[in-house]
Amino acid sequence: MQKTAVKKIGILTSGGDAPGMNACIRSVVRKALNENIECVGIMEGYSGLINDQIIPLDSHSVSNKINEGGSFLYSSRCPEFKTEQGMNQAVKICRKHGIDAVVAIGGDGTFAGAEQLAKHGILTIGLPGTIDNDIVCTDYTIGFDTACNTTVSMINCLRDTCETHARISVVEAMGRHCGLLTLHAALASGAAIVVVPELKYDCDEIIKKAVAIRATGKRGIIIVVCEGCMTEDKESVAEILCRRIKAETEIYASFERFSHVVRGGRPTVRDNITASMMGSKAVELLMHGNSSVVVCEKDGEILPVEIHFALATQRMYKNELTEEDRKDFTEDRIEMMEHICERRHHLIRKLYKLSRDICNLHLTDLK
Ligand code: F6P
Repeated sequence: MQKTAVKKIGILTSGGDAPGMNACIRSVVRKALNENIECVGIMEGYSGLINDQIIPLDSHSVSNKINEGGSFLYSSRCPEFKTEQGMNQAVKICRKHGIDAVVAIGGDGTFAGAEQLAKHGILTIGLPGTIDNDIVCTDYTIGFDTACNTTVSMINCLRDTCETHARISVVEAMGRHCGLLTLHAALASGAAIVVVPELKYDCDEIIKKAVAIRATGKRGIIIVVCEGCMTEDKESVAEILCRRIKAETEIYASFERFSHVVRGGRPTVRDNITASMMGSKAVELLMHGNSSVVVCEKDGEILPVEIHFALATQRMYKNELTEEDRKDFTEDRIEMMEHICERRHHLIRKLYKLSRDICNLHLTDLK
């Protein structure tokens, strides 16, 4: 594809922050400058575009940022950007600063914003940055590895005291609707039981299993539950489990919510490398005339996927794809989406099965 003349890239981070976002910003800036493309930072996500919070970025602006957690461009969730008025204002600000392309780092909400911006004439590239790893079109999102490692470190600390006092610790791990972080952390920390929203669970059975594990002589028992596991009344299943274990068994249980602390901290090598590859790829894609695409990792390759396709696949994964949505895609593309969704379901089932297979209690022991 022909190289196009992008002159100025605006970079923003939007939605929940994730470790590695700074490495990603750095990569976009350094790669762009090397290609003689100017860069500016858009502060606090899309709201910075509406409120005209634009800062110059040169090579030094991104020095010593690579190992900092969070985002030095700050982030926000910006409902105003979803309105026509907000969008028009954002486009006006882009024009005012001569920003002809925006690189937006975040999750699916961020990509939806980028898609709209592209429809209004600004070139856009989405980069996946969220600790949840919940974008189905990409095998990996920036921040996931760090969040997994932080979660595992915290569980390891918990295990020490849990073992000493012969307790059950019920941990609520981050991951709005997605159990991948929970599954990875549970597996890597040797948790006895894991509960994720994608797969059926039964609190009675979990409690029975915890009691049976204790009966084998195991002192400390860790149960990791994804925050996305909630009752219809939005009650946390992790909290319910802890309460019920205390009330219905002889075992003392404690509840731990790992929450936002997991979003911070120094990014791991995995996150900084992926962030660097994706950031640089975003600039290359813009130079080759691509827009409205999200940079994904698939089987170790970094490649672009149209945002429209990526978001429709998200909806399919959540069983929210409408007949109207389907009309935008050929049969082949729909099949491809189904394949991507099935791959993700398969991964979740595989990790869950592994965690049960290597638990110290054979499932058949409970029957
Ligand atoms: O960014 C993902 C995430 O951290 C989820 O794990 C969590 O459910 C959510 O964001 C929390 O969002 P907020 O920061 O708006 O409370």
